[in-house]
Amino acid sequence: MSFREDGYAAVDWAANYLERVSDLPVLAQVEPGDLSSRLPETPPESAEPFRDVLRDLDELLLPALTNWQHPRFFAYFAVTASEPGILAELIAATLNQVAITWRASPASTELELRVADWVRQLLGLPDGWRGHIEDTASTSTLAALIAARHVTGRNVVVCSEHAHSSVDTAARMLGMELRKVPADDDLRMRVDDGLRFDDVAVVVPTVGTTSFASVDPVRPIAERAHAAGAWVHVDAAYAGPSWICEEERWSQDGVELADSLVVNPHKWLLVPMDCSLLWTSRPDDFRLAFSLVPEYLRTPEDAYALSEYGPALGRRFRSLKLWAVLRCYGREGLQRILREHVRLAELFATWVDADPEWELVAPQRFSLVVFRRNGTDEENAELLERVNASGEMFISHTRLNGRYVLRLAIGNARTTQDDVRRAWDVLRQSSR
Ligand SMILES: Cc1ncc(COP(=O)(O)O)c(C=O)c1O
Repeated sequence: MSFREDGYAAVDWAANYLERVSDLPVLAQVEPGDLSSRLPETPPESAEPFRDVLRDLDELLLPALTNWQHPRFFAYFAVTASEPGILAELIAATLNQVAITWRASPASTELELRVADWVRQLLGLPDGWRGHIEDTASTSTLAALIAARHVTGRNVVVCSEHAHSSVDTAARMLGMELRKVPADDDLRMRVDDGLRFDDVAVVVPTVGTTSFASVDPVRPIAERAHAAGAWVHVDAAYAGPSWICEEERWSQDGVELADSLVVNPHKWLLVPMDCSLLWTSRPDDFRLAFSLVPEYLRTPEDAYALSEYGPALGRRFRSLKLWAVLRCYGREGLQRILREHVRLAELFATWVDADPEWELVAPQRFSLVVFRRNGTDEENAELLERVNASGEMFISHTRLNGRYVLRLAIGNARTTQDDVRRAWDVLRQSSR
């Protein structure tokens, strides 16, 4: 086996994939079990060449891939693994740093702190916040809830009815009581006189909810929460990257009051899955909650071990891909791409709004459009299945006040105006 030759072949495979991904169906055109029936049931006895792995990648796996790198992937929150991030992943695996302590990987530890601080500056977040990387927003939120419970000694989590299910999951895993606050007509957490946080450990406002990209009023929530001794964890997993553009910072109002904040570079900052940034203004409290250093990990250096600030001991060199992306795009490059996504979402929203057969069901925010075709829920659900089955595009759905509605999220760096136009044409043709 030649690492160099196989490596060239793998990079060629990756480059060819990215060149042709727009010709592939967006949603995998397979049935459950199709791939399983083609995979050997028993493991290989003897060594096979890497080229056979690449061959089977093409023949077996490719048809069963939903192509998240496709420019007409508009479902959930569309994402981009950019080329610098992809290459940095290769190198991170090559180096295989396991950053359990500073000594185990000074580079990984110190680069992670530095790039977290770079992103803090790019997004206009307060000086003095300390950030590190977790795998996903689900883990970041879990960690924040653990810290909040530890320091408050309370057991209640509060979020809006539109908060992401990761808050429910974290509360359930921790055995914490979850209270959901109803939303107002703008789909924001309703803050009225009855809303009290006296026995609450942590309040989780969302900036950019998953269903509608609505923005909870973080400032009044944080002021009340702090007055009652509760922790404030802001979930800006999707919308946070938009703060790199000054015109989106209206949605940051009050975030500077947060005790912790999660933003996902793997959602809308061109970093390949997985990379979730968790900042806190209270790093000592995180350390209190998490630090547990057994004898076999004690070192003479009095240096930062990121494993003392979150649930994971072994940590991947995730900062490398974030570093590569930040350097190869710069603030300007990232702003250009995010602004284009917002522009395309606005454009799509104007087409929907102008067509009497269609309805915008929530204000268009960031790069998300929530809409529906006139007609029943069943008709809209069938429409979604039809357009997705076409392979031309992939959208997802949610419900608003019980009604089935469609979501089109723009987040892939390859998406052009032609792609968005095509999506609109496919939707209209499929609804006839
Ligand atoms: C607002 C929000 N928070 C949290 C998450 C969970 O993200 P992750 O998949 O990184 O756990 C999502 C996922 O879409 C989200 O939209």
